[in-house]
Amino acid sequence: MCGIVGVVGAEDALPILLQGLQRLEYRGYDSAGIALSGPEGLALSKAKGKVSMLAARQDLLPRALPCGIAHTRWATHGAPTDENAHPHTDCHGQIAVVHNGIVENYRELKGELMARGHRFVSDTDTEVIPHLLEDYGGATDLLTAARNTEARLQGAYAFLAVSGQQPDYVVAVRRASPLIIGRGDAANYIASDFTAFLDATRRAIVLENGDMAAVTPKTIRIWNEQGALVDRPEMTVDWDIRQAERGGYPHFMLKEILEQPEAWSDCLLERVQGERIQVEAMGLARAALAGWERIQIVAAGTAYHAGLVGKALIETLARIPVDVDVASEFRYRDPILLPNTLVLAVSQSGETADTLASLALAKQRGLATYAITNTVGSTVAREAGAVGYTYAGPEIAVASTKAYTTQILLLTALALALADARHRARTDLVAKLASLPALAEQWLAASEGIRLAAQSLTDQEQMFYIGRGIDYALAMEGQLKMKEISYIHAEAYPAGELKHGTLALITEGVPVVAIATQPRLMAKVQSNVAEVKARGARVYAVGAAALQESWGDDSLATIAAPDPLLAPALAALPLQLLAYWTASLRGEDIDKPRNLAKSVTVE
Ligand code: F6R
Repeated sequence: MCGIVGVVGAEDALPILLQGLQRLEYRGYDSAGIALSGPEGLALSKAKGKVSMLAARQDLLPRALPCGIAHTRWATHGAPTDENAHPHTDCHGQIAVVHNGIVENYRELKGELMARGHRFVSDTDTEVIPHLLEDYGGATDLLTAARNTEARLQGAYAFLAVSGQQPDYVVAVRRASPLIIGRGDAANYIASDFTAFLDATRRAIVLENGDMAAVTPKTIRIWNEQGALVDRPEMTVDWDIRQAERGGYPHFMLKEILEQPEAWSDCLLERVQGERIQVEAMGLARAALAGWERIQIVAAGTAYHAGLVGKALIETLARIPVDVDVASEFRYRDPILLPNTLVLAVSQSGETADTLASLALAKQRGLATYAITNTVGSTVAREAGAVGYTYAGPEIAVASTKAYTTQILLLTALALALADARHRARTDLVAKLASLPALAEQWLAASEGIRLAAQSLTDQEQMFYIGRGIDYALAMEGQLKMKEISYIHAEAYPAGELKHGTLALITEGVPVVAIATQPRLMAKVQSNVAEVKARGARVYAVGAAALQESWGDDSLATIAAPDPLLAPALAALPLQLLAYWTASLRGEDIDKPRNLAKSVTVE
């Protein structure tokens, strides 16, 4: 996720900003930049690559200036390049902006600004902000211009702006993406998280959603969404730096699990508009959708499990046959690929060797290719004919969580778009899809029970996960999460398949996680649950809220999905947390499990 840092009132802003950027490196990024504001106007340095590169050429920037803003960018709109790195400026280089999140309506705004003669130099959504500020007179009155600009922007974002003509002044705007102000003695700081300024001050004010702040060396003024001047409480941060990097959480994995509501809303923001999926915002041309007669998904590990969910959704909603292959198998099995097949590669990193080889094979056969990835500018993104980004932000823990659920969301959007193209539109589901981030937030806020349940798993050596249909795909992901971080041997089975052999392993006390989010299959799963319970299994049910009662003491989590087809991403949350807490209670090295790498770039 991008990182923001700003300072105003410093004796020398440059080293403070460089240190702030270094502190934000843990978030993952692909480029970085700094803008300093002083009596001579703005000075700027930015580049693709590491903060150390910026530091190495700091001589290019003036020293002893009081004010500046800086940024680490994780590419979303536009590849990781020097031009796309932040800060971005207006036409005259008088206003500089750093920005996190997404400006959803940037295409319209860019068109409008270009028609008025503004010159754009990047592919980013961010660049509309300095140009709007310019139009509204931001060079001399940044605050008024920021108010007018903010009224034009749609999306979830945060930004800082400085003007070369107001060198002791930073304007900060928070719309969903976090921003925190650090109160120092002679200088004040603004950042996307505490880590960036913990070396300078521990007094912090968290901006609330919709807030705008004007920060000078001695004053911090904050207005709420309604424009009223407000007092936000000041807190003292007592975290150490390592804790702060993980947002105060003991592991990145937990942080990333809890970030899912935000990741989901970034993922869906431009894609769901009213009752229609915006396929162009998924990198696809609407006209192409009706022509695909088959879909072949290729992926590895967790991404493969997302592909299985995608298959169930696309086949149910659009009635297009879908095959899903593990990429390392696909590339060597000389697959039969019929014309009019779309080959879809799913990959968080976009660098998985087997997935790339599968994509290359599809291209050799002359088929249309599409990639779903979290990593802008990755090889899969460059090689595929079209690409849809999950916008989950960087995933640092090896075990994939938010990338997986955003893959599911994008596959759901794809299934709905394909259904629409085949005159099977489900406008009801499109509208409900947008409600998932809020439902995830509610569910996570009341998820303490999962930790308690995990206490009963810490001494286990084997576990089973069962489900039918789409829930079997979830069971596969649930078992993978459990084994990769807790090292408990776990297996997933289609619930009806257990009695064909594996039931022999179900003995007194063996844990069985039963996933049952689909009312039409509920009675069947419940019979399978009765079979394992009769052999002494301890059942942990992840089930549809409507049937909560029937699970009694076996209930681990209830899934209040607005429709059964929208249950998978929500049902993944308890499975992720169960694995996390089990591994945590067992004292495992959760973020870096043994023998595993985050990006598997070899066969
Ligand atoms: C498991 C996990 C892996 C990856 C797999 C593919 O938690 O993260 O199974 O899903 O290595 O990686 P990507 O999605 O980067 O292609």
